[in-house]
Amino acid sequence: MSLEVTRVAAGMVLAEMYVLDREGDDATGDGTKEKQFKIGLKALMTVGKEPFPTIYVDSQKENERWDVISKSQMKNIKKMWHREQMKTESQEKREAEDSLRREKNLEEAKKISIKKDPSLPEPKCMKIGALEGYRGRRVKVFGWVHRLCRQGKNLMFLCVLSDDLCLCYNGVDLSTESTVAVYETLNLIPKGKLGPAGGADNLINKESDIDVQLNNRARSVITTCFQEHFFDRGYYEVTSPTLVQTQVEDGSTLFKLDYFGEQAFLTQSSQLYLETCLPSLGDMFCIAQSYRAEQTRRHLAGYTHVEAECPFLTFEDLLNWLVLKSPAGSTVSDLNPNFKPPKWPFKRMNYTDATVWLKEHDVQKEDGTFYEFGEDIPEAPERLMTDTINEPILLCRFPVEIKSFYMQRCPEEPRLTESVDVLMPNVGEIVGGSMRIWDSEEILAACKREGIDRTPYYWYTDQRKYGTCLHGGYGLGLERFLTWLLNRYHIRDVCLYPWFVQRCKP
Ligand code: 4AD
Repeated sequence: MSLEVTRVAAGMVLAEMYVLDREGDDATGDGTKEKQFKIGLKALMTVGKEPFPTIYVDSQKENERWDVISKSQMKNIKKMWHREQMKTESQEKREAEDSLRREKNLEEAKKISIKKDPSLPEPKCMKIGALEGYRGRRVKVFGWVHRLCRQGKNLMFLCVLSDDLCLCYNGVDLSTESTVAVYETLNLIPKGKLGPAGGADNLINKESDIDVQLNNRARSVITTCFQEHFFDRGYYEVTSPTLVQTQVEDGSTLFKLDYFGEQAFLTQSSQLYLETCLPSLGDMFCIAQSYRAEQTRRHLAGYTHVEAECPFLTFEDLLNWLVLKSPAGSTVSDLNPNFKPPKWPFKRMNYTDATVWLKEHDVQKEDGTFYEFGEDIPEAPERLMTDTINEPILLCRFPVEIKSFYMQRCPEEPRLTESVDVLMPNVGEIVGGSMRIWDSEEILAACKREGIDRTPYYWYTDQRKYGTCLHGGYGLGLERFLTWLLNRYHIRDVCLYPWFVQRCKP
C-alpha cells in the first residue's frame, strides 16, 4: 500500500491526518495524532489540494481508538471544501475587479481640481472643541478622519462633501485616518437632518482596531482621575529618578545597565524616593514608568506605576484608604457596559487563610504537596482563588521571607509583615502596598538578611537615623487596573506600545 505524503503547516510532512470532534482544536491543532483538528474541512484546507491524505477519526469500535473516515463523510467534507475553494476564488476575482475599478476612478479623479473661492472671506483656523462660539462664521479645521460614509458617487459624509469635492483625486482617495483640512461656514444641521455619520461600528474594518483608539482614550481619562483623586486630598505630585542604583522589589527582575562605568538599574518602583520626600511634602504620589525584567509574556517589561506614600498612618488606615473609587464615566461604560463598581468594604483575607483555602480546595503544587506557611503562592493558584471567590480581596500579612526587605513586621506576630496585595477577579494583583520599617537598626538588619549591599542605600537608611515616622504606601499597576476596569482579555490591549520579554519595539 502506498501513502500520499502531505505537507502541512510549519513544514511538517504528514501521511495521514487526525480529526477529533470533541477534543480536537482547529486553532492550535496541526492534524497530527497528538494535535488533532476538530473538523475534517480544516484538514483538507490545510493540505490545500487533492489528493488528500487518509483522514482518521474517532473509532466507534470498542478497544480501537482510530478509524479511517467513512466514504460518505469524506464525500461531504470534500463538497464543503469545493464550496470554500469557489468562495475564495470568487472573492479574489471580486477584489481584482474592485482594484481595477478603483484605479480607473483615481485616473478620472486626477482630472478634477479644487480651487479656493477668492470671493469668500478668509477662514479662521480653529480646534474642533472651540467651534461652538463661531457659528455662522467661516472656519478652517485640521483633523483626522475617524468616520467616513459614502452615499453614491458624489456624496460623502465626514462633514458633508458633495460633487467635485467627492470626485477629485483626494476625495476619491479619502479614507479613515487621512489627515484633512476642512474649510466651511459653520452652521447647525437643520432639525431632523442628521447625516449618517455612523456609530463606532463604522470604525471596525480590517485596517483599524477600534479598541486601540478607545483604550488609549480611556487610559488618558483614568490617569486624570487618579491625579484628581490625589490632588483633591491634598497630595503633592513627585517625579523621581528612572536610573537608580537600588533595588526595591525582587532582584531577579532588575534591568541592569552601565552608568558611566558604574552599575545601575532601571527603576522598579519610585517608592524609596517618595519616602525621602515625606518630611517635606507629607502625602504624595507619582505616576511614572517602572521596569521589570519579567520572563513571561503575560507581564510587561515596562509599565505605568501609580504610587502613593503617606506619613502618620497605621496599617489599618492603609487598608481603608486602598479603596478604588471607580472613575466610571462614559468612557468606561462605552468599553465595558457591564461594569459594576465593586462593593465596599473589600473582602479581607490573611495570607495564612489563603494557604488554608488552597488546601480546602485541593489546590496543590506540581509535586503534589500543599502550600505551607512561608511559601510564595504563585500567580496561578492565587488567580484560581480570586476567580473562584469572584470579588476583590485585600490579601494581607505575608510572611517576612517572601516579601520585600523594607516591610514593617506585624506587632502581634513578627513572622508576618504589614503588607497587602489587592487581588481582582480575572486579572489578579493590581496593587501592592505595605507599612515601611522606620527603625534604623531594623532596616539595616533587613538589608543584611536579604543579601542587599547597604552602601548605595545610605540615603534611604539614614532617614531612619535622623528622624522618621510611621508611614506606608502602595503601588498600582495602571495597565492591570485598566485590564480589570475595561474587562480586556490581555494586558497588551491597554498599552500604547506593550513591551515584554523579546519585544522592545516600536
Ligand atoms: O507589588 P509591587 O512589586 O510593589 C511595588 O513595587 C511597591 N514598591 C509599590 C509601593 O508600595 N509603592 O508592584 C506594584 C504593582 C503590582 O500590584 C502590579 O499591579 C504592578 O505594580 N506590576 C506590574 N504591572 C505590569 N507588569 C509588570 N511586570 C508588573 N509588575 C508589577
